[in-house]
Amino acid sequence: MADLLLGQVLSFTADPFVAGEAAARHESHGAVLVENGRITATGPADTLRRKHPQATLHDYGRSLITAGFIDAHVHYPQTAIIASWGKRLIDWLNSYTFPEEMRFADPAYAAEIADRYLNLVTAHGTTTVCTYTTIHPESVDAIFAAAQSRSMRLYAGKTCMDRNAPEGLRDTAQSAYDDSKRLLEKWHGADRLSYVITPRFSPTSTPEQLAALGQLWREYPDCLMQTHLSEQTDEIAWVRDLFPQSRDYLDTYEAQGLLRQGALYGHAIHLTDRERARLIEAGASLVHCPTSNTFIGSGLFDMTLATQLRVGLATDTGGGSNFSMLRTMAAAYEVGQLRGNALHPAQLIWLATVGSARALHAETRIGNIAAGMEADLTILDLASTPAIEQATRRAETLWQQLFPTIMMGDDRAIRAVWINGKPR
Ligand code: GUN
Ligand code: ZN
Repeated sequence: MADLLLGQVLSFTADPFVAGEAAARHESHGAVLVENGRITATGPADTLRRKHPQATLHDYGRSLITAGFIDAHVHYPQTAIIASWGKRLIDWLNSYTFPEEMRFADPAYAAEIADRYLNLVTAHGTTTVCTYTTIHPESVDAIFAAAQSRSMRLYAGKTCMDRNAPEGLRDTAQSAYDDSKRLLEKWHGADRLSYVITPRFSPTSTPEQLAALGQLWREYPDCLMQTHLSEQTDEIAWVRDLFPQSRDYLDTYEAQGLLRQGALYGHAIHLTDRERARLIEAGASLVHCPTSNTFIGSGLFDMTLATQLRVGLATDTGGGSNFSMLRTMAAAYEVGQLRGNALHPAQLIWLATVGSARALHAETRIGNIAAGMEADLTILDLASTPAIEQATRRAETLWQQLFPTIMMGDDRAIRAVWINGKPR
């Protein structure tokens, strides 16, 4: 059975950080043909309707069909503490995050939040996330099971911490290795699920734990590895005290086999010249979390890195202050402005789709609209509120039509979401 989605269609044939807006392809009266979970054709609506008269039509009018949004760094267990007031990173972790993560020892609570979280992100147009969990294996089972029942492509791994966390929220080097390995073998490659080796960050892992996870990564080299890097200056000073023998923060990972292609570093704001050069040379991925970086007061990511390595975009729920990748694009624009770099709407939406897919090494499967790609699609109403509608009335280009939705849009702008070829 084939479905034919009609609307404006936005896809990318190149990288807009290299090619500018010419990297985007806009079909004003376009169509996307979906069969068995895949996109099998895209092009002008007239042509596709003629070629596929049997297909079921879904007419989205002047709405914009784009690849589903990909949130490349989140903590689903922080769903219920999003938008907690007044703390910076270390105090925020101790005051809000760790007490909440403690609750995930209860599998029923983990299942409840996993379900609530995926419902929320789907309502916001996000079709794939790469998530941290808690130290509890049950929290990993909960999110993978919830994603599997929705046919979502999802990345997750057990968050490992063996120091500087409260009693009840610490594992050991050995148990982190054993539990991660067991969960990896259980979930990695099952349906659309991928396991990600996940040391939380150097302050909460001993060198022995980082080494054990480096060993695990050598045994399963096609997995991704995610962690945090140089988010706040206090955190960096703490890492310097904890690892006196390391050259810098990145070296605490590098020394244990946790730096190469497939490594994803969240934040990466306050980098030394050596760290930048090594990240580029190693082919690592960075994940920009702009609402988090302003909300927790971390700093301004340097987007010029986007031409030098893979950069994804993320909410960092619940350090980030919103589930919406539209709001996240708006924050990326604002951070760019503060650094004198006005990101083009093509660059913003590319970051939330192809950019995040590339960061996850998944760009041949998700993040774009082209024949052969998996059919994860988000349909944006470009006039979802009176405020946005009136701002688009004189728009002459797609970018003028789209930018008010990027800046002011929320879940009301999400007209429909397709996951694995089915409307949700
Ligand atoms: N660094 C280590 N853990 C976390 C976390 O949960 N959120 C953020 N924003 N930074 C972190
Ligand atoms: Zn994070």
